Amino acid sequence: MARLDVTETFHGITFPGHLHTQDSLHYATHFKFQDTDTLIVTYPKSGTTWMQEIVTVMSCKGDAVRAQTQPNWNRAPWLEQYYCPDVLNASQENRILTTHLPYNLLAAALSGSKAKVIYVARNPKDVAVSYYYFHKMAKFLPESGTFSEFLSAFLEGTVHYGSWFDHVKGWTNNARNIHNFLYVTYEEMSRTLRASLERVSEFLQCPLVEEELTSTLKSCSFSSMKKNCMVNYSLIPQEIMDHRKSKFMRKGKIGDWVNTFSEEQSCTFDAIYTSRMADSSLTFVWCNP
Ligand code: A3P
Repeated sequence: MARLDVTETFHGITFPGHLHTQDSLHYATHFKFQDTDTLIVTYPKSGTTWMQEIVTVMSCKGDAVRAQTQPNWNRAPWLEQYYCPDVLNASQENRILTTHLPYNLLAAALSGSKAKVIYVARNPKDVAVSYYYFHKMAKFLPESGTFSEFLSAFLEGTVHYGSWFDHVKGWTNNARNIHNFLYVTYEEMSRTLRASLERVSEFLQCPLVEEELTSTLKSCSFSSMKKNCMVNYSLIPQEIMDHRKSKFMRKGKIGDWVNTFSEEQSCTFDAIYTSRMADSSLTFVWCNP
């Protein structure tokens, strides 16, 4: 079998070559958005799949059939992944799109667009731990090394999809340039999912009656999603994603980083965080348990 962990470099950022090509990345950066599009934007491991499920079920008014029968990459494709044009050929309006690209690579394509952009951010310490375990199971990612080695690469921004700091600041500092922008955190969804669903529903102008909201809430719980093979990646062959190493739906918790970070790693992280986020327009409250 050909090596899966090949790398594609685009504008100085590395991407898994298993899913990205120069053509697919060029396609994404020159994408023609429609005003009826919803674009979910995340740095990896920040709650992408969760928001894909929320937007899918919500746009079906709480009916989970689509979410239970169509894989997430098919109903909310990543713009930059090679199969996206084929998926979009089959869809018309009210498309749900996903991207991990940094703001600077999509700014021109989004300029003047009224597409609705939902940015989901998560405590970067939890992102780093989740990403580390994802490297263990996703065979299309490079070897992670030890957690300490992985953490250094994460802080330097040399992991695939680039720097967490640049990603979060790029999107949130430029939110004013985006016509319709909603900022949501993984932590907020975890603590008060119902309130987050209400915010998303208002933003998408997709009002839900109580029963529809309750069924959306149920479908988007960690336990439901962990069982749903259309989002838990169990459809992907074991040679590509090895769930024996780590599950995709791993823990689904906030503040779990404490079980992986040493005190020293946490202090180093905090110092780099403070300096790298000094020019951020938002104050992020990453609450620990
Ligand atoms: P953990 O590895 O910490 O468990 P992404 O979809 O951006 O790749 O993010 C994956 C992370 O989101 C994983 O985190 C996964 O468990 C978590 N996740 C997915 N759905 C969730 C849900 N409904 N509730 C809480 N966490 C969820």
